[in-house]
Amino acid sequence: MTDRDKANQNKWWKTAVIYQIYPRSFADSNGDGIGDLQGIISRLDYLENLGIDAIWLSPVCRSPQDDNGYDISDYQDIDPMFGTLQDMEELIAEAGKRHIRIIMDLVLNHSSDEHFWFREAKKSRKNPYHDYYVWRDGVEGEFPNDMRAAFGGPAWEWVPEVGQYYFHQFSVKQPDLNWENPKLRREIYDMINWWIDRGVGGFRLDVIDQIAKEPDRGITNNGPRLHEYLRELSRETFRKADLVTVGEAWGATTELAKLYSNPDNSELSMVFQFEHICLDQIPGKEKWDLAPLPFLKLKEVFGRWQTKLHGKGWNSLFWNNHDLPRIVSRWGNDGKYRVESAKMLAILLHGMQGTPYIYQGEELGMTNVRYEMEEYRDIETLNLYQERLEKGYSKEEIMDSIYAKSRDNARTPMQWSSGKNAGFTEGEPWIRVNPNYREINAAAQTGEEDSVFRCYQTLIRLRKEYSIFADGEFGMLLEEDEDIFAYTRTDADSRLLVVCNFHDREVNVSLEELADPGELLIANYRDACQRTVLRPYEARMYWKERQ
Ligand code: GLC
Ligand code: CA
Repeated sequence: MTDRDKANQNKWWKTAVIYQIYPRSFADSNGDGIGDLQGIISRLDYLENLGIDAIWLSPVCRSPQDDNGYDISDYQDIDPMFGTLQDMEELIAEAGKRHIRIIMDLVLNHSSDEHFWFREAKKSRKNPYHDYYVWRDGVEGEFPNDMRAAFGGPAWEWVPEVGQYYFHQFSVKQPDLNWENPKLRREIYDMINWWIDRGVGGFRLDVIDQIAKEPDRGITNNGPRLHEYLRELSRETFRKADLVTVGEAWGATTELAKLYSNPDNSELSMVFQFEHICLDQIPGKEKWDLAPLPFLKLKEVFGRWQTKLHGKGWNSLFWNNHDLPRIVSRWGNDGKYRVESAKMLAILLHGMQGTPYIYQGEELGMTNVRYEMEEYRDIETLNLYQERLEKGYSKEEIMDSIYAKSRDNARTPMQWSSGKNAGFTEGEPWIRVNPNYREINAAAQTGEEDSVFRCYQTLIRLRKEYSIFADGEFGMLLEEDEDIFAYTRTDADSRLLVVCNFHDREVNVSLEELADPGELLIANYRDACQRTVLRPYEARMYWKERQ
């Protein structure tokens, strides 16, 4: 092993657990119904108690909020809705006192149409900012091609002042930035360095695999120049600092992930890949077109990512984020076995190699919601509803998709207590609180030994105590078993064994390893032992020294 390899093995984020905050739904400090930076500061003790090492903050920069902050109009200011730059500095400092780093969300594929660059760009073709965006000539009413935007409608929008279309992969208010322009890239690097100087601990890079788009060839993600841009970005910014970087890459394969997360540090620390997430949709269709959950495929996907990246890259481990439904309502059971299945999913994921991400409320076993249509807020959900009504889908069909997949499932207010509005706000929350907050909330769980919260807290502690979590090699067991997800992790001196039942009934497990599994590190039933019957959603994790 070279010195560089050794240094890389000691990267802080390899033993870290990261917690994602969706600021508008986390904690409201001033009663306007919207979460804010002071709200987060007031809850740092809770996060310190949980034991996390870093917070990934979804965007808090100035934004017209067309896509809840993923449409930035000023990258170097905080949106007044969330607070001020001073509040941000206070957050970084207060978190730092608790050994928690702040990871910012960088939205570099597009800006808001209200950004100064775009306001200038659309004035004339000669404007120095014109080329910061992606324009194509044409005539009004005839799109340059038939590409569609992710939130519905065409990916092109006409601007009469310049007689051209601009390209947008998301909403019309999110024009795509033109990475082919070196001046734009320079501006971006300067902005990032400005944040690094303010002491942030890292960055999550929004839809980073889409920056090198080539619309004339219909290319959105994984464009030919993508890795060239990423290497330049890294070299000019975060490479110099001890930061963590994670790219959102829906189109990542294990081969591409090895490039992104190459231990030589040339691109990023890791990527979010979504192969395990997309298993619940009909291949080739949209995320709303639900497929039955394929359990064997889930095992195959996790197993492959664990094996292929071992020693060659680095995985991120996650079930949830602000775009995804609650995992306990998807692969778990949000009724009778909510607590057991939430813990099982946590134990399964946190035993693997990679950096785990916990999305706010996941540590409480928060669930999906079923609202009336008027109560949904997400632009993607609202557009989908209209689009599918027009296409002739029935209301029931559309609502089934929304219940299962709407991004608002993850965006309901954090459930702090059984008090008014779940303790999230004194005012009227911007989106309705999940009515189950009286039962599911932080106040009820932090002091309760058998809570989902305690399970997460213990997992985070274990990951720090045993180096095998960061280093051990993954080995799948019972590959063809339809009920059980079991695997080992091994290093030179020890072995970890994780055994999970994915069903709401008892199942038998035939594993030689269970004859002498070692010490029980964590389980989701009190009297777990070496029994070869697993109760509904039972999960156990054992550790053993190797002879
Ligand atoms: C990412 C974000 C999502 C956002 C989109 C456009 O997928 O996670 O919330 O809408 O990018 O920025
Ligand atoms: Ca507020």
